[in-house]
Amino acid sequence: MNSKLLISLSLIILMGCSTTKQVAKKEIKKEVVTIDAVKSGKDLYDNRCGKCHKLFAPTDYSIKRWPGIVDSMQPKANITDEQKAQILAYLSSEAK
Ligand code: HEC
Repeated sequence: MNSKLLISLSLIILMGCSTTKQVAKKEIKKEVVTIDAVKSGKDLYDNRCGKCHKLFAPTDYSIKRWPGIVDSMQPKANITDEQKAQILAYLSSEAK
């Protein structure tokens, strides 16, 4: 085996390793963002959604009903699309 071939082989192996590491890092980051969204979603929900009526329990409605309900409550609660998505992330994580 000549040394050039050996070097390119080990380069390929090295590159393979670093790609896997990067993918793993990305996945971890995604998870953290999701947990953050659920947490700030709960804060938003507690602060914005119990002003006009009792705070409904996430389990009061199914995971299918919540998106439509939060859509119709968005103008009432005066929340941005991002805040709406966070509230939904929280509700979906707790809904039945
Ligand atoms: C400005 C007052 C106000 C705010 C703020 C508000 N709501 Fe409501 N909500 C209402 C009123 C009025 C109703 C009943 C009439 C209706 O369905 O529009 C209602 C009804 C509901 C219902 C019952 C719907 C059904 O079909 O049985 C749910 C669930 C709900 N709101 C969730 C939320 C959530 C989640 C938020 C926060 C994003 C929120 N509300 C913020 C006024 C408000």
